[in-house]
Parts: sequence; structure tokens; C-alpha cells
Amino acid sequence: MKILVVGATGTIGKAVVAKLEKEHTVITASRKNADVTLDMTSVASIQKMYEEIGKIDALAVAAGSAYFGPLETMTPEENKQSIDGKLAGQMNLVLLGLNHLNDGGSFTLITGIMMDDPIKQGASAAMVNGGIRAFVKSAAIEMPRSIRINSVSPNVVQESWDKFADFFVGFNPVPVEKVAQAFVKSILGGQTGQNYEVY
Ligand SMILES: NC(=O)c1ccc[n+]([C@@H]2O[C@H](COP(=O)([O-])OP(=O)(O)OC[C@H]3O[C@@H](n4cnc5c(N)ncnc54)[C@H](OP(=O)(O)O)[C@@H]3O)[C@@H](O)[C@H]2O)c1
Repeated sequence: MKILVVGATGTIGKAVVAKLEKEHTVITASRKNADVTLDMTSVASIQKMYEEIGKIDALAVAAGSAYFGPLETMTPEENKQSIDGKLAGQMNLVLLGLNHLNDGGSFTLITGIMMDDPIKQGASAAMVNGGIRAFVKSAAIEMPRSIRINSVSPNVVQESWDKFADFFVGFNPVPVEKVAQAFVKSILGGQTGQNYEVY
């Protein structure tokens, strides 16, 4: 299978690539240090990337940034950072990628535990996670040519705990390998419209 991994150089992306690269052709994408350069917040950049790589069997996204901050002081501009960084970017990768996916191919997007288990300062990020889950569930029933679409919703991963521990008080982080395994299930399995919770 020819599999495009967006965010392949990140904590989760690296684990996804490690699971797949032995048996599949993996193309890595991110803003730097990857096979193809991509800024998923830019429609032009997404189009250019798809033209560059040709047809693929699967797209896996392990990228997307969202705004963390107190609700009381959150501005519309700050909230828009989440919409542009995690919601629209992933949706555009699907919308513009449909014609580049082979029959029976798959999309796997990323959400996150905060939409189900709220944390302080997490409303904007939770909103985009929920948006991706709803998009996936709904888009699945309209996918042409037996193309499937799922999302993976990780808990905080152990490998990111130092960075996020102050936000996720009382959470039990999970190994990133478990998150990568959910991507494998989505890409190589038969399910569609699912959100795989790795909590
Ligand atoms: N880590 C966790 O505990 C955790 C838990 C739940 C959900 N998540 C979600 O999982 C996703 C990945 O998290 P992570 O911790 O693995 O992130 P990370 O370590 O910061 O890695 C992010 C990856 O995405 C790439 N990237 C960032 N912005 C991009 C853009 N605009 N266009 C294309 N590529 C871009 C980065 O490379 P460049 O900088 O070179 O572009 C890098 O490869 C995020 O959506 C995050 O919300 C993470």
C-alpha cells in the first residue's frame, strides 16, 4: 500500500510510520524534514502536495494545532486558530484528496480525548476534535468507490506527558504505540465512520 502520513515527524506520526514502513510504501509530509513539504493550513499547499505524490491508498493525519486558553478571555481570533489549524486543515486534506485516493482507500484523521473528558482551557481544542468526529461519521456514508474514513482519538500520550501534564491533571497517559495501532486498524481494517478512542 502507498500511505501518506501527514505530521509524520511528530510524536504520534513517528509511531505511525514505524508501524507501517516495513510492509508499505510510506510518504511522509510536514512543513519540514519530510518526503513532501506540506502546510495543511494552506489549500494551495495541499493541492501542490497531491499533484506531487500522485495516487495513494491511504492518508493518515497526525498533525493539527489547536488553541489552549481560558474561555473567559478567549478571542474569536484565538478560536479561529483551532478551526484553521486542526479542523479545516484535516477536512481540506479529505476534500482535495478524494480524487487522489485509489478505490477502496482510506482516510484516517485525528481528534483527541478532550472532546469526551474536558479539561480547563480546552474548549476550543475540544470543539475542533468534536467537529472532526462528526465530519468523519457523516462523510463515511457519502464516500465513493468503497473509500473508508475514520478518526483516532488519543488520550495524552506518555511521550508528550512532560509537555501536557499541567493541563491534564489526573489523566493516565497512554503509550504512543497504542495510538499508532489504532491508525493501523483504521488503514488496514474494514471499518468506516468510526472514532477509535485510545483512552
Ligand atoms: N501528543 C498527544 O498527547 C496528543 C493527544 C491527543 C491528540 N493529539 C493530537 O495529535 C496530533 C499530533 O500531535 P503530536 O503530539 O504528535 O504533535 P507533534 O509532536 O507536535 O507533531 C506534529 C507533526 O505535525 C507536523 N505539522 C504541524 N503543523 C503542520 C502543518 N500546518 N502542516 C503540516 N504538518 C504540520 C509537524 O511537523 P512540522 O512542524 O515540520 O510541520 C509534526 O510532524 C495533534 O492534532 C494533537 O492535537 C496529541
